[in-house]
Amino acid sequence: MATSIRGDQKRQSNDYNWQAEIDALHEKTQALNLYEFWSVGKQGEHEAVRDLARFDHAVPHIWKYRDVFPCLEKAGELIDMDESERRSLIMCNPALKGLIATTTTLFAAYRINNPNEIAPPHRHSPNAIRVGLTGNTNFTGIDGEPITFGPGDLVLTPHDTWHDHGNKGDGGAVNLSVLDMPLVNVLNATYFDSEYFEKDEQGNEVRRNKQTERLNPEYSKRTYGKGGLMPRSVSHLRGTGNASPMYVYRWEATREALEDLREYDNSPYDGVMIEYVDPTTGRAPYSTMTFFANMLRPAERTLPSRQTASLIYTVLEGAGHTMIDGQRFDWEPFDTFCVPGGHWVHHVNETRSKNGGGGDAIFFVSSDEPVLKTLHFYSRHGKNEAGETVLLESSRRF
Ligand SMILES: [Fe+2]
Repeated sequence: MATSIRGDQKRQSNDYNWQAEIDALHEKTQALNLYEFWSVGKQGEHEAVRDLARFDHAVPHIWKYRDVFPCLEKAGELIDMDESERRSLIMCNPALKGLIATTTTLFAAYRINNPNEIAPPHRHSPNAIRVGLTGNTNFTGIDGEPITFGPGDLVLTPHDTWHDHGNKGDGGAVNLSVLDMPLVNVLNATYFDSEYFEKDEQGNEVRRNKQTERLNPEYSKRTYGKGGLMPRSVSHLRGTGNASPMYVYRWEATREALEDLREYDNSPYDGVMIEYVDPTTGRAPYSTMTFFANMLRPAERTLPSRQTASLIYTVLEGAGHTMIDGQRFDWEPFDTFCVPGGHWVHHVNETRSKNGGGGDAIFFVSSDEPVLKTLHFYSRHGKNEAGETVLLESSRRF
């Protein structure tokens, strides 16, 4: 309800029934699906208006892998490829009621693949990635590149690119997926396509249940796997051309890169951190998401920081805890926790090594940072040793 001076005078006037008029107006606006913007801050007077003004913010949350894994195993028994090609458990933020979303823009899921099964090819508008967690035979074929992957390997399946998922071995295999689907849903741009065609020898389009493997299984590594060296004699146009053409980032190289940075100071807010980038541009692999390998050295404790981007951390190695706005989250391998934008966060590595000393902790981190940077909403603050808040980075011009 409006509370201007004029409104108060009108309300006090006996010959003018202001309240009745405003109630009648409210009834009309409700019926016409109009929101009375002047009502902001006057909670309790109009239930419907208060509901319209509500915005659900994602909250920090952790999914413990030891709780999730028995459900995944059971799903592996009960759900075969005929039941569904998507044997995944998506981590839903408890505050985003009714949404399938881990943070406002992203969702993460654990997927279990039974031995020797490959789902038929499909494509979709959301961008996705997979990271191997257990087993060495997770499989994703992307645009003719057959990628078998193991723990820590990062595999891209960019938007509108044909791909298939599965397991090319005799043992079980679990991987993590991260998609920008909640963001794409908000933009009303989500679609899936599962009718896959290839040209036969006569050049006719024929529907297929399986992609033809056209490229070497290590095509991405061979072409882009050497930092600072860019091939000039092969085409970098893969898929739609809107994502990194390097479709797999092998863990061995990532781990080595982290190791090579160990002796430097690195960041007091992140420890040792590497971004996975499109090797042809040096920028994030997707326009919507970027990813990091983040190592905390033995007993390392980071300083608190807060950013507008939302983050999803999955623990690859080690154990410790993370404080998010004063709330403690203890973690160990394969747990996933989210840090929605706007929360103060710092990490403490409590990993014990076999020889009794401290060990490394490593996170795989997913972020919607590229979206916030493109739209100029990105900023990050930290607290220095003295506890003062300092601006670390901003895409805004102050
Ligand atoms: Fe997919």
